[in-house]
Amino acid sequence: MKDVSSLMQSRIKGNYVALFNSIAQVAADYQVGVYVVGGFVRDLLLNTKNLDIDLVIEGDAISFTKKLAEKFDGQVESYEKFGTSTLRLEGRISIDVATARTEYYSYPAALPEVKPSKIKSDLFRRDFTINSMAIKLAGQGEFFLIDLFNGEVDLKNGLIRVLHDRSFVDDPCRIFRAIRFEQRFDFCIEDKTKKFINKAVESSLIAQLSGDRLINEIKILLNESSQVKCVDRMRELSILQTIAPEIFVDDFHWIVMEKLESALVWADMLLMPKKPEVWFVYFYTLFMVTKDEVFKGMMERLHFPRNIYSRMCSERECLTSAKQDLNKKKELKPSEVYDIFSKQSSETVVLLLAICSSERVKKYAELYFEKYSMSAKIELNGDDLIGMGIKPGPIFNDILKALCDARVNGQVKSREEEIILVRSRFVK
Ligand code: CTP
Repeated sequence: MKDVSSLMQSRIKGNYVALFNSIAQVAADYQVGVYVVGGFVRDLLLNTKNLDIDLVIEGDAISFTKKLAEKFDGQVESYEKFGTSTLRLEGRISIDVATARTEYYSYPAALPEVKPSKIKSDLFRRDFTINSMAIKLAGQGEFFLIDLFNGEVDLKNGLIRVLHDRSFVDDPCRIFRAIRFEQRFDFCIEDKTKKFINKAVESSLIAQLSGDRLINEIKILLNESSQVKCVDRMRELSILQTIAPEIFVDDFHWIVMEKLESALVWADMLLMPKKPEVWFVYFYTLFMVTKDEVFKGMMERLHFPRNIYSRMCSERECLTSAKQDLNKKKELKPSEVYDIFSKQSSETVVLLLAICSSERVKKYAELYFEKYSMSAKIELNGDDLIGMGIKPGPIFNDILKALCDARVNGQVKSREEEIILVRSRFVK
């Protein structure tokens, strides 16, 4: 075990060191071994900020977390089925606590069966050497690195390496993780590990993942800032083709994907009511195919969760109709621009910009968010219309639409002018 106490003191904020000291104290009282594991340790050695704390306890994680919560006055959420807990502390600090465990996979890509163990076996069940290090919280200001698989050397050499040859068989999600870490840190997947990935891909192990697990990994990957490089790497390793042969990523996909970054920066400056979800715009682009039947068939076959399926379908419809409307004629009236953009999600707006990539679309979108969406507010309501002697019915929608158009087009600027418009057009 290597003493990393001074590294911890110099790289981690003082209040975190104090927190670890207090955790070590509880572990000593409780007579269990406690370790920080995974990404936190990796990022500490890389000197990269990571405040996601994962603890492993050589004992019962749930009762240990309850003891921590008493000491720190925190909130505990426990997952009895998995024997894990999350402790939430003031200042939005959240700590995941798990019992050290060995995992058994009854068949490839299955969820593992677990048995309590010591830290050594817990580290052996993990994905890559760089993620399989732990720091023992040994006492006040005493921190020791446990590195059984030379993770530190791999970190220095920039290598993503699995611990054993069945790693991707046990959990094919790790294929995506390997790419994610490789691209995030500008590392390289080590040769043997790459061969294991090739073998797993050839054996269609990805197809054995449930739609939920597949989408979850893709989502995390597309939220990385290096997502385009990750997609390119997936293509290079034939992973994209394995997920869906239809998503043959051609020049058009790349052009759109490369434009998404600047479209997202541009969207960030607009007064959008909801910021676009980054992963979703990339996800949509990736699964963008021309033919409707091919798109629907692919979505169904991949068993993505229902909400993703319907979101993809509605996005496709919105994009198609918005593209058609925007291309109809040269200049659009403000109310026409309003009609087009008020129906779109913020993700569609970003996609529209990246796909159409015209100054015109950008201009209309800016006008919509900066001006028309605000001027569309009307003052009259249903009660006012009834007060004017109009019977409730479908006509109400026509009136409200006419008022909204008139507001956006600048023909009406006050409540009084709204009343004049309703009287002249809708009251006999
Ligand atoms: N892990 C694993 N196999 C997986 C997922 C996770 O072995 N399929 C282990 C790794 O040791 C990993 C730890 O669980 O470090 C925590 O996983 P996670 O929070 O997903 O990843 P991090 O390594 O913390 O990476 P990130 O910075 O992306 O959060």
